[in-house]
Amino acid sequence: MSSSRPSLSTPLVRSALEALAGDVLLVDERLCVADATPRARVRLGLGELLPGRPLAEVLRLPEGQGGLEALLSHGRPLDITPRGAGCSLRVRALALDEGAKRLGWLVLLSPGGAGASPEGDAEETFHGLWTRDPGMKRLFRIVEKVARTESSVLVRGESGTGKELVANALHAISARRKGPFRAINCAALPPSLLESELFGHVRGAFTGAVRDSPGHFRLADGGTLFLDEVGEIPLELQGKLLRVLETRTVIPVGGRASVPVNVRIVAATHRALRREVEEGRFRADLMYRLRVVPLFLPSLRERRGDILPLARRFLDELERQGSRHVERISPGAQQLLERHGWPGNVRELRNVMEYAFVIGEGPLLHEADLPPEFSEPRLPSASLRPARPASTLVRPVDDHDPATLRAALEEAGGNHTQAACLLGISRVTLWRRLRALGDKVSR
Ligand SMILES: Nc1ncnc2c1ncn2[C@@H]1O[C@H](COP(=O)(O)OP(=O)(O)O)[C@@H](O)[C@H]1O
Ligand SMILES: [Mg+2]
Repeated sequence: MSSSRPSLSTPLVRSALEALAGDVLLVDERLCVADATPRARVRLGLGELLPGRPLAEVLRLPEGQGGLEALLSHGRPLDITPRGAGCSLRVRALALDEGAKRLGWLVLLSPGGAGASPEGDAEETFHGLWTRDPGMKRLFRIVEKVARTESSVLVRGESGTGKELVANALHAISARRKGPFRAINCAALPPSLLESELFGHVRGAFTGAVRDSPGHFRLADGGTLFLDEVGEIPLELQGKLLRVLETRTVIPVGGRASVPVNVRIVAATHRALRREVEEGRFRADLMYRLRVVPLFLPSLRERRGDILPLARRFLDELERQGSRHVERISPGAQQLLERHGWPGNVRELRNVMEYAFVIGEGPLLHEADLPPEFSEPRLPSASLRPARPASTLVRPVDDHDPATLRAALEEAGGNHTQAACLLGISRVTLWRRLRALGDKVSR
């Protein structure tokens, strides 16, 4: 009885295991491979000859601390390159115990190591932006070119697509990199405060102005000023901003003298400014001034190939800080992640992975570990999540629509932070929308 070798005896058990954990080897207590799923055999190029061979030999691991022992005792993943396999593999062992008795190990194999990519597209990290998407990579090349100039850049993209990272990159590559980089979110402040934050004020300019304040333009002198959510600047301030950009001088609020400033402007918006201009909310002359070089960042759902690798990267980051090792994302969870609409784009993905990392346990990240919105088939409202096939989920939500806002608030149980996340907008923007729409939202 004790001599019978453990096995994944039926095709059903093998398929079930493969569906849950991917490609695995079953290792007995003598450290010999007892069985393997079919794909694991293929990956290791082992055909049918597998059972009974020592694990160290099969994986070509050195015995002892750097190899087999590290794999089995610390649960840490190892990257190996098996003979005959074109790419490296990441292996991780899970101990199988019954009470105090060690029965053996499950060894999980996944494509891993540097540059492994099933799609064959090379990955690239550009100033904190990771991608495999050809469109994104083209954008990086444009950023490199534009960074060497002084032209105003307008970055357009939904929330969480990396606009601020692009602005950072533009500064970091530019000749101004030794100068300051200042960012101001134009959506976060009421108009009067925004004006003094941008242009500064003199002492006594308004109640509470107890001393002179330089403002962001002067603080960014010699460097780059990032005007985030520039589409939210109220019309009355747009004229003043344009004047500053054309004269390259600022007049602080309450002041008389104009002060010269030498600043490179990078602006960002999630809106189509042209439409804002057509609808009279944005000055055309300012749009042309800001948009000398327009850059467009695609949403995450427009580059779905990036979703799972980015998810994996965020897990790797979390593993470095936390105590949990996530070997793999279950096929069910992978599907949910790939099909999600990602209104909050990469930022939302990072938060979702952090949630799942904290909520779940063990080496497998399950569907059930994902935040509630992934497991609720209930459609909160026709406007927020249309009950049509997956492709319509990707339609950007209209966060000006009272019904959409109401649905998001309902879905979030009244929690503004969560509702904003669902809509892919900031809490401040949500607050502004709610205030603008007033009674229409509160029903
Ligand atoms: N391509 C990417 N690769 C890795 N992380 C990204 C990427 N795009 C965005 N992020 C993450 O999302 C966060 C939000 O990016 P950010 O530039 O602030 O977006 P936006 O300004 O468009 O809202 C970043 O801090 C980063 O963690
Ligand atoms: Mg931003």
